[in-house]
Amino acid sequence: MERTYVMIKPDGVQRNLIGEIITRFERKGLKIVGLKMLQMDRAMAEKHYAEHTGKPFFEGLVSYITSGPVVAMVLEGKDVVATARAMNGATNPANAGPGTIRGDYAIEVGRNVIHASDSIDSANREIAIYFTESELCEYKKVLDDWIY
Ligand code: PPS
Repeated sequence: MERTYVMIKPDGVQRNLIGEIITRFERKGLKIVGLKMLQMDRAMAEKHYAEHTGKPFFEGLVSYITSGPVVAMVLEGKDVVATARAMNGATNPANAGPGTIRGDYAIEVGRNVIHASDSIDSANREIAIYFTESELCEYKKVLDDWIY
């Protein structure tokens, strides 16, 4: 089953949005198979956002993402990479539609509340940064047989 990496960024934690955001993914029918709170350091941030090294926003992004604890999770489900991205809304909240997490809770790209992997390859890479295999739970829900 497809998996993706989703992270509630420091502003989401500070604004007490953890429960609200996790609830959205649960209600959608996605399965949480990994979940933890952690404080990222600069090395971890540079690893996660390696492809953006040198871009004008890079230093601001690293400083933002290391400014406080984040909530890291791995979600599992059919087409979960695209589904989580759609639920988050556009990267710039100004372009994120109502009903999306960024559309409902964020105003600017530098404080856009949430991250989700943009491809299956990115998901595999990012999951490995934050979780060991033993921290991911394989389990069955009775509902798996007939509902998403
Ligand atoms: S790019 O250049 O188009 O590939 O960049 P983009 O996909 O839009 O964004 C890559 C990640 O950088 C974050 N970002 C920013 N953070 C802070 N400040 C500014 N100005 C900024 N611009 C982009 C953006 O949210 C992406 O991070 P994630 O965690 O994937 O949302």
